[in-house]
Amino acid sequence: MKHSNKVTPKIAPSLLAADFCRIGEEVERVVAAGADLLHFDVMDGEFVPNFGISPLMITAVRSKTDVHFDVHIMVTHPLRYIDALVDAGSDMITFHIESDDEPYAVISAIKAHNIKAGLALSPKTSCNEVLPFLSDIDLVLPMSVEPGFGGQSFIPKTLEKIEKIHQQIQDIDNPPDISVDGGVTPEIGPVAAQHGATILVAGTAIFRSEQPNVVIEKLRTIE
Ligand code: DX5
Ligand code: ZN
Repeated sequence: MKHSNKVTPKIAPSLLAADFCRIGEEVERVVAAGADLLHFDVMDGEFVPNFGISPLMITAVRSKTDVHFDVHIMVTHPLRYIDALVDAGSDMITFHIESDDEPYAVISAIKAHNIKAGLALSPKTSCNEVLPFLSDIDLVLPMSVEPGFGGQSFIPKTLEKIEKIHQQIQDIDNPPDISVDGGVTPEIGPVAAQHGATILVAGTAIFRSEQPNVVIEKLRTIE
């Protein structure tokens, strides 16, 4: 079902799909193409069977641009990494509800640094798990692929989760952004936005394109 939502979504290229040999140029390329945020995937090799971007890389990119840094941590113990990620230049840290640390403790630890706190949920997790936290966070991220790897296909059931969360936040004074991450293409992105997504994260679709500005424009366009 399409939603009546008409908010233009913010676009967050995911650096996991960038050419790491030319990371500075890659950042300049997507910022010039109109990126609203930059999305960094941090992994610990335990919560997910992969490694991602480290605080060292975030620090290096921070020296290149003032764009807002949206840092998504797929780690078992988020509390261990907050200080290092804040020092590296994060503007927002999103951790997983399935991680081992107590969610309110992590939210408080992030907010203590005066940056935004987000809560992500993996595809198999019910959105009921995050509903109690919606008034205390700045962003909720229903993942549309299994976390850990780029280049996977969008799981259509995510649209129902986005819609349900969108309905739940209507009565909140400062509602969180709803972000969607994984398999977001110029075709599915606007549909997700119609269901209530306000941030579209896209790695492969943006970085593997010769014309990232065209991809970003299409992602932003809601009919
Ligand atoms: C997956 C990451 C995503 C990933 C998206 O665990 O959280 O941010 O980079 O990549 P694409 O857009 O290629 O699915
Ligand atoms: Zn991500």
